[in-house]
Amino acid sequence: MSSPSGSATDFVPPRPTLAKLRAAAKGCRGCGLYKLGTQTVFGEGPRSAHVIVLGEQPGDAEDRAGRPFVGPSGKLLDRALDAAGIDRDDVYVTNAVKHFKWAKDARTKRRIHKTPSAGEIKACRPWLEAEIALIEPTVIVCLGATAAKSLLGRAFSVTKKRGVAIESHWAPAVFATVHPSAVLRAPREQRSLAERMFVADIRKVGQYLAKHATTGKRPGRPAHKFNEWPITAARSATSNASTRSSRE
Ligand code: URA
Ligand code: SF4
Repeated sequence: MSSPSGSATDFVPPRPTLAKLRAAAKGCRGCGLYKLGTQTVFGEGPRSAHVIVLGEQPGDAEDRAGRPFVGPSGKLLDRALDAAGIDRDDVYVTNAVKHFKWAKDARTKRRIHKTPSAGEIKACRPWLEAEIALIEPTVIVCLGATAAKSLLGRAFSVTKKRGVAIESHWAPAVFATVHPSAVLRAPREQRSLAERMFVADIRKVGQYLAKHATTGKRPGRPAHKFNEWPITAARSATSNASTRSSRE
């Protein structure tokens, strides 16, 4: 049975911590995908992270491991973060949808990724909102159209706006780029260019961070905007700032 609200809302604990969220998300039945995926693949990384990397949904490897970005896309992401000088310890990785949506390929019998629907993304969003509210990142990096549209609206075009800082109520800067799986799937002759462009986008995130790290956690973010968040779990910005001052 799915939940009464038809979303993850019914499963998000009051006064959450990342550990509480992760534990509660294990039993989420906010949409039908819990029947399809092996397990909930919750976000991973420190609460002190300045960067949230947002993917679409776990892939085959992530579904088996129960951890985000451990497969081929994750390896490429790690290389790009490294090239951009972004410390992996400063990054929290998560997905717009936390269960793997797949269908069996009739010929190969392999599990083929299926794009989550708008309804599934919406159903899973309370988890993402709670993660963002706790971490209060300086930057969110959306990988691919699904992640970008889920935060920046359906009209958002990754092709037109990749690699640029977009101010939003989610974070002082939201960046979007292509999904690493698109780079990995690119035709042979385009592959190296696609990878260089992906890394170039992530480098822009690194530059933004280097520039804004000294000015505090929420550069240029008007305080009143915080109240506009559609999030009940939002904590005060000051308490988190104090836990990270030593890193800045
Ligand atoms: N692709 C995603 O979008 N997320 C993962 O966790 C892995 C691959
Ligand atoms: Fe819950 Fe999200 Fe999984 Fe749906 S995809 S069951 S909302 S965790």
